[in-house]
Amino acid sequence: MQYNSSLSMWYTFGIMAFVVLLTPIFYETLTFLLGVKCFLPNNHLVWEATRPISDCGFCRNVDGPLILKNMSREELAPYAYSTLPIVIKNAVSHWPATSLLSLEMLKEIYGRYPEALDEGCHFLNFHSDLKSIRDVFNMSPERANLSVGSTWYVGFSNCHLGVLEELRKLYGRPHFLPIDAELSNIDYVFLGYEQGAYMHLDYIHRLMWQAQLKGNKSWILAPTPECDHVCQSFSFYVEPGDAVLVDTRIWYHGTSIPKGQFALTIQSEYS
Ligand SMILES: *[C@@H]1O[C@H](CO)[C@@H](O)[C@H](O)[C@H]1NC(C)=O
Ligand SMILES: *[C@@H]1O[C@H](CO)[C@@H](O)[C@H](O)[C@H]1NC(C)=O
Ligand SMILES: *[C@@H]1O[C@H](CO)[C@@H](O)[C@H](O)[C@H]1NC(C)=O
Repeated sequence: MQYNSSLSMWYTFGIMAFVVLLTPIFYETLTFLLGVKCFLPNNHLVWEATRPISDCGFCRNVDGPLILKNMSREELAPYAYSTLPIVIKNAVSHWPATSLLSLEMLKEIYGRYPEALDEGCHFLNFHSDLKSIRDVFNMSPERANLSVGSTWYVGFSNCHLGVLEELRKLYGRPHFLPIDAELSNIDYVFLGYEQGAYMHLDYIHRLMWQAQLKGNKSWILAPTPECDHVCQSFSFYVEPGDAVLVDTRIWYHGTSIPKGQFALTIQSEYS
């Protein structure tokens, strides 16, 4: 009896020691393996594969955006950093940009800062054959309005200070964002027709705001796959003058524009 219980005590101790020693080794190995992502190219697939599993709280019971009327910063404050997608109707319809900004005007502005075209600002061609801002500006007017050629939709960052300053004369700091919100000093424009951005996550560090200047745009939001069983996808549309706040880091999102309409959007980040 005595012998047996001391044997089982040693046995238990052995297992405990094994676990205590091996857990950190296992943990280290796992973190090392996951850490290997740093050695791989920082492409989309790798991002996808290493994206942390999200807790599904952000999408549980959400089946549409919160649609708010144009409101003050104080009224928006409770929602400003929410993971709930938000549309603020008519929030930017007073911006001069809604009536003035166009492909022509962008061309004019960049014409004043030709060096901006070589700045290497981020360019997204989505499904279109246009590979640079230059390609966009070099389209014939007929291609630009889709009376010839294939449909196009692009986005690019305005990372040149001169261009950004000119653009920001047409829109100010969004009045609805918190007074102490830190805003990005790079704004994006998205413009074009029909199929917009395909479903994706943004690998950005902050929240995103968008101002819909021209055209209607439909958004499709979907939860991350690990939340498919508790959450649902949904779509909604925004009209010219609306602002959109979406945490595009956790919501898969895609956009499209009704056939025949030209859409123009300003996008930036805040935290
Ligand atoms: C929206 O609210 C802002 C701030 O209160 C205001 O300046 C702007 O004129 C409003 N826009 C509309 C369309 O009411
Ligand atoms: C497209 O642009 C061309 C050249 O400016 C113009 O002649 C044509 O009427 C436009 N088409 C449409 C549908 O706006
Ligand atoms: C946007 O869509 C709504 C509803 O379908 C429609 O009433 C409105 O005219 C559209 N706006 C534009 C600019 O086409």
